[in-house]
Amino acid sequence: MKIKWDHKDLIDVDILTTRECDLIFKLAKQMEIKLKNKTTIKETLKKSNVFNLFYEPSTRTRASFELAAKQLGANVININANFSSVKKGETLSDTIKTISAMHADIIILRHMDSGAANHASENTDKIIINAGDGSHAHPTQALTDGYTLLKKFRSLKNKKIVMVGDIKHSRVARSNIWLLSKLGAIITLCGPSNLLPKNSTSSKFPKCFVETNINVALKNADVIMALRLQTERQSQNLVSSLKNYANKYQITSKRLLLAKKNCLLMHPGPINEGIEVSREVANSEFSKIEEQVSNGVVIRMAILQLMFNSNFKKQ
Ligand code: CP
Repeated sequence: MKIKWDHKDLIDVDILTTRECDLIFKLAKQMEIKLKNKTTIKETLKKSNVFNLFYEPSTRTRASFELAAKQLGANVININANFSSVKKGETLSDTIKTISAMHADIIILRHMDSGAANHASENTDKIIINAGDGSHAHPTQALTDGYTLLKKFRSLKNKKIVMVGDIKHSRVARSNIWLLSKLGAIITLCGPSNLLPKNSTSSKFPKCFVETNINVALKNADVIMALRLQTERQSQNLVSSLKNYANKYQITSKRLLLAKKNCLLMHPGPINEGIEVSREVANSEFSKIEEQVSNGVVIRMAILQLMFNSNFKKQ
């Protein structure tokens, strides 16, 4: 496959054309086959140094980037900000400069502040991949979700995707709105009004709608994407009680009946089972949650390969 990639960084999916998304998905498919067949792919990132710099907890993103980079033959260095010189007052820009001086090729950054990945990019000529910054963006999760959906549907054109939960504070929702709109889906954002975006999305995303009533939102859905209450990013308690929230917005077997017969249930994780999704639904045949996790590895392998071979750095 001819690979052309002109971006220095991956801060969000808004920079990607549909052709570039297709390229990532095609490459991820190849990675999946190679992983299954245990075909050696260690040459791809051989002698490269990939730094995982995480200021926030993570299971899926951190481990899958590490696995992806190791599968491609990179040296992987994990830095947990809680056990680094960040604790002695080192700023993000100084940490980025320090890592860059250690011959980093790629820096994967998770941070609690929206805009942190952009800030990191301004402080280094190394490749920055955003692994989630505040409520801003989580591009590799959105690409993982897009890939998971395209394995089920040939196209997302006019597929109804309902995102339910704390949309306002969710970087996964933001990146997925960009990506899934680009791929032609019709999106409904559902949750209590104080957890929905303040401003209308219609000018940027004409096929993205808002609905507070879950029974209306779920009608004829092809996909339900449940999202966690992002309490770590809420400045105050925005739901009266978890029980009340679950009564109104939990995806239950009964509510699943409102959607299309073979509707898919997705969740980027981590799940708070019994709040946004019932245990029964999370473990049902409709659930794609574990497949999302597996797909996250091959999507990140594809992204690492594309970015390491970027035309940008050769200019
Ligand atoms: N979906 C996601 O970003 O999960 P982690 O926080 O475990 O990385």
